[in-house]
Amino acid sequence: MKSFTFHSYKGGTGKTFMSMNLAVLYAKKGKKVCLFDFDFRAPSIHAFFDTPRPKFTLNELVDGQCEVDVAISDATKELDLPEQLYVGFADSSTEGISGMAAKDRKWQMRSLRLINKSMQTLSENFEVDYVIFDTSPGFQYSSINAVLSSDVAVLVTTPDRADVEGTLQLIEGVYEALERKTGIILNKMPAGIPSTGVPPQTIEKFSSIFSLPIIEAVPCSCDVMSLFGESIFMKEQKAHPVLKTLVSASEKLEKF
Ligand SMILES: Nc1ncnc2c1ncn2[C@@H]1O[C@H](COP(=O)(O)OP(=O)(O)OP(=O)(O)O)[C@@H](O)[C@H]1O
Ligand SMILES: [Mg+2]
Repeated sequence: MKSFTFHSYKGGTGKTFMSMNLAVLYAKKGKKVCLFDFDFRAPSIHAFFDTPRPKFTLNELVDGQCEVDVAISDATKELDLPEQLYVGFADSSTEGISGMAAKDRKWQMRSLRLINKSMQTLSENFEVDYVIFDTSPGFQYSSINAVLSSDVAVLVTTPDRADVEGTLQLIEGVYEALERKTGIILNKMPAGIPSTGVPPQTIEKFSSIFSLPIIEAVPCSCDVMSLFGESIFMKEQKAHPVLKTLVSASEKLEKF
């Protein structure tokens, strides 16, 4: 089993978009996938799935109130996938969100042990190939716990100056101490005209800023916004530059 965490300094960089689409891409390839909404501050993934809700949320899982098998739902049929896609949802109620915000360091350390135990169950009992964590932006404990439970951390940044500076700060202040394999995905990048993808010289410019490998550069496209979550994936648009870069990112991450 291999696990990935999508994290960022700023909000809105595309973590949820990428987590969901990569999860679906892997499942389409015949991999067993588990997607976790670890954005306890602003849960999102529940909004994109109509699957029956599991008995428990991930909030209860990381609090030791349940095991992982009752905190995930099977979205395989809903998305007509050849292999299992399990999804764990965060509690999106006001009480759920504020409850998580109040947790202290000791609680978070205990929760890290519970996440690791769940990862073991997913590997041994569910034979999951890939676990994907979508997280809250910034220096959130739950996001760091996800990184610590994963093999690979993916920092998603946009070309926004504050975002780039914050990402550098996050790398220096947190990631260097975590000692996890880490790569960067540049998202919402200016594309060439006509939209053929992100020009190589633009990618090179960012490669020189970051000391970490750039896994992929995903172009900014209004087509993504126009989906409005109707379809998790741009199924009908195989040649779309965003889809092409997501496929490429998924392949590179498998070998990362
Ligand atoms: N390459 C792209 N081009 C245009 N829009 C994009 C692109 N990637 C993501 N988006 C859009 O940007 C918005 C923010 O994306 P998303 O919710 O995935 O970000 P996030 O990092 O998860 O945000 P948050 O930190 O708030 O959880 C969404 O509406 C999404 O559809
Ligand atoms: Mg998100």
